[in-house]
Amino acid sequence: MYSAKGSLPVLRSRSPSISRRQSRWSVLVLIVFAFLLVLNYFPFRFIPLPYPSIPTQRGSCPATPPRPSLTVPARQGLDWRNIKTRYPVEKYAKLPGKRRGSKERLPRIQYDFEGNGTEALYRSTMRSRRQAAVRAVFKRSWRSYKSQAWKSDELRPISGGNKTSFGGWGATLVDSLDTLWLLDMKEEFEEAVEAVLEIDFNPTGTINVFETTIRYLGGLLAAYDVMDCKDTRLLDKAAQLGNMLYASFDTPNRMPITRWDPLRASQGEEQLAASSAIIAELASFSLEFTRLSQLTGDMRYYDAVVRVADVLSEQQNRTRIPGLWPVGIDVRQLDLTQGTRFSLGAMADSAYEYLGKTYQLLHASGSPLVEQYQKMYDGAMSAASQHLLFRPRLPDNTDVLISTGVNAESLDKVVQDYSTQHLTCFVGGMFLLGGRLFSNSSHLEIGRKVTDGCVWAYQHAPQGIMPETLTMNPFDEAGREQQYPGFAHVSDARYLLRPEAIESVFYAYRITGDPQYQDIAWEMFESIETLTRTEYANAAIRNVMKENRTEVEKMDEMESFWLAETLKYFWLIFAEPGVMSLDDWVFSTEAHAFRLVV
Ligand SMILES: *[C@@H]1O[C@H](CO)[C@@H](O)[C@H](O)[C@H]1NC(C)=O
Ligand SMILES: *[C@@H]1O[C@H](CO)[C@@H](O)[C@H](O)[C@H]1NC(C)=O
Ligand SMILES: *[C@@H]1O[C@H](CO)[C@@H](O)[C@H](O)[C@H]1NC(C)=O
Ligand SMILES: *[C@@H]1O[C@H](CO)[C@@H](O)[C@H](O)[C@H]1NC(C)=O
Ligand SMILES: *[C@@H]1O[C@H](CO)[C@@H](O)[C@H](O)[C@H]1NC(C)=O
Repeated sequence: MYSAKGSLPVLRSRSPSISRRQSRWSVLVLIVFAFLLVLNYFPFRFIPLPYPSIPTQRGSCPATPPRPSLTVPARQGLDWRNIKTRYPVEKYAKLPGKRRGSKERLPRIQYDFEGNGTEALYRSTMRSRRQAAVRAVFKRSWRSYKSQAWKSDELRPISGGNKTSFGGWGATLVDSLDTLWLLDMKEEFEEAVEAVLEIDFNPTGTINVFETTIRYLGGLLAAYDVMDCKDTRLLDKAAQLGNMLYASFDTPNRMPITRWDPLRASQGEEQLAASSAIIAELASFSLEFTRLSQLTGDMRYYDAVVRVADVLSEQQNRTRIPGLWPVGIDVRQLDLTQGTRFSLGAMADSAYEYLGKTYQLLHASGSPLVEQYQKMYDGAMSAASQHLLFRPRLPDNTDVLISTGVNAESLDKVVQDYSTQHLTCFVGGMFLLGGRLFSNSSHLEIGRKVTDGCVWAYQHAPQGIMPETLTMNPFDEAGREQQYPGFAHVSDARYLLRPEAIESVFYAYRITGDPQYQDIAWEMFESIETLTRTEYANAAIRNVMKENRTEVEKMDEMESFWLAETLKYFWLIFAEPGVMSLDDWVFSTEAHAFRLVV
């Protein structure tokens, strides 16, 4: 008020000279204002330095990759950017900026919950109660991790000790970040972030690049994404780790070494990709690396994705089952066509899972690679639905599908072994998501039936939990022996706190809107929590097929995905459907949530 009063006489003046001066003045103000406005919208284009480091605060996640790219500030100790590249890339593939005026949108993924009226009061009350119960279990496990095994890879849930499993950098700590945020444990989240910032991703012995990518890199990126890209120290950390992982691609054919010794690499040793590798480890980094390029503008990561995608796509139709890649591959000679074992399970799973999901993440950026991913998805899912699924014979004749493995010398000699793994339970969710993404109703149907297959196994196993590996009898072969009704043979009766079944049940709920899936989830949760609970947290089970509960044995193990995935999906299925909507987020194979920029 005070200054406004002072300026009033000037504004009212009709003197021509003042008015001219005034208009010149206001033009100047306008120019400065416009300049500031532009600067505000495009902060990076106006910074004269060629490589600005990552700023400490940013309002929200960028819609297009920052240009010029952000880089990790120089630091003491090992800096991967200073390690000489033996096989430099001449020209990096680039994520294109958003296509101007492009109104193309992905089809709607989630069921139209709002269109079905409001939720009945009793359902919403029950939902909140169930959600609170899941949160309490998470909180308990987290507290024990913090008091007993802080910053180590895993808590030992029976003895209260710790375990080093993935580099010793704190796998559970990093893997849990976005769940902490979602469950509104903000204090714990802040504390965890401070601890994460102290991690030194220094090379130790041989690491599994795949596990390091999905648990650590994915964990860091998702934490940054869920907090709307506010704490850029997390992006900085992700880029530091990304720089290290990227060095595993420095081979003559630019394919990654998936079991990799970063220490030797940092000493400049010659390195070659493995001649005996597995498809999941070659092809499951596209979401994490693409997101890292989208957030930093550094295209090296995306370039690595493109190189592998080109190989996958080029060889996809030349394998023994065209459309599918075998589990075992030769990355050194770059031959993915020879293997005879095919499956959607262990060692293959996320290679297939990431086809549709990478399509989804790339779609918004208008990348030309999008069609390549769609083609790969179509080819793979068409072959998978023909060869890798079967209807089992169940005591109650329920019509479900089970995902299995095959051996194939050629297309006319495909032999299914009717085995299945808890790991393959993600397949239901994959077909459901793909069915929506590519508007294929038969995939929706398949997705539901595969999900229901795992649900059946949970509901009919003696303790309400599906075992790790089993075989089922095919529908058209009656009279075969069974170890337990519906379970022909259980070769591995452990339950390792795995998420894949609840993951697909979550997709089924969000995509079909069928509230039955919430009840199914609750039953699963109660069985798991009751059977796995220990003094400190929750433990893996050695023999879930025991009918006598007192004979069920626990193991002193709790992998980081218990907090990162299993409890996250249990919590999300009881959340309002708008929370982490599948139309706004894509979940990695470690359940890390990446923002879809649309
Ligand atoms: C992990 O366990 C070892 C003993 O097995 C102990 O020396 C170490 O302090 C523990 N680390 C943490 C972080 O608790
Ligand atoms: C592979 O074969 C399918 C079916 O014949 C075809 O639609 C697809 O385009 C082929 N993919 C490539 C990469 O050639
Ligand atoms: C759905 O996918 C199957 C292959 O998995 C294909 O045969 C069918 O034509 C597709 N349907 C639609 C509507 O695209
Ligand atoms: C929609 O609402 C009706 C009752 O209003 C309910 O019976 C039905 O199950 C709901 N459908 C879904 C898919 O939620
Ligand atoms: C369950 O197993 C325990 C220990 O082996 C045994 O004492 C008990 O009698 C068994 N209960 C039943 C119902 O078989």
